[in-house]
Amino acid sequence: KQNFVIAIDGFSSCGKSTVAKALAKKLHFVFVDSGAMYRAVTLYFMQHDIALDDLPAINEAMENIHIDFVPNPNKTEILLNGQDVSDAIRTMEISSQVSEVSAIKQVREAMVAQQQKLGAKRNIVMDGRDIGTTVFPKANLKIFMTADPYIRAERRFAELAAKGEQLTMEEVVENLAHRDHIDSTREESPLRQAEDAIVLDNSQLSQEEQLAFVLDLYEQAK
Ligand code: C5P
Repeated sequence: KQNFVIAIDGFSSCGKSTVAKALAKKLHFVFVDSGAMYRAVTLYFMQHDIALDDLPAINEAMENIHIDFVPNPNKTEILLNGQDVSDAIRTMEISSQVSEVSAIKQVREAMVAQQQKLGAKRNIVMDGRDIGTTVFPKANLKIFMTADPYIRAERRFAELAAKGEQLTMEEVVENLAHRDHIDSTREESPLRQAEDAIVLDNSQLSQEEQLAFVLDLYEQAK
């Protein structure tokens, strides 16, 4: 029996991971947050002072970076070379550099290969920017999420504030706009809606409504 792949793409802070996680839990699929992988690479670059134009150093880094996901009952841990970096990758410092790191060709090639391996034989829900276009162009179900920019910023702001980050709403708005701009204009697999993706605008939807929407799509696609 063939495995079933669900790709969820969209702009920053649209709630992709929340829907993806709930869907994976409900269907007993593996959930992979591809953005967490790019964040872990960014953390590694920061820890090792790797300049974004130092190609030999980047190539070496990509050989030394090993990323694993450990599913726990409550949250999936992400390990960078064996270290749990789940919290360390969620800071504003990482958010402000991750799009620059993710635009580097060598970084994308390494991550895409790893993501394809993760979804080669298993039922999987993966969220990101290029999952339906580049990583799994033949995914069984593709969803493209959008939400009102103001609502996205508010959600993100609340999330960061809850973690004790001292930020203004303006800084959050700026970071989202910055990432969306770089992510959708970069040369390597830019963020765009796959032709066969179904749009989910969740500006006015509860998490339960979003889950019901995607479950319904799954029932139709399976
Ligand atoms: O999903 P999240 O917002 O955590 O992703 C962080 C960043 O990683 C994005 O802004 C984007 O630059 C990059 N990314 C990417 N391709 C993906 C997932 C994330 O370039 N598939």
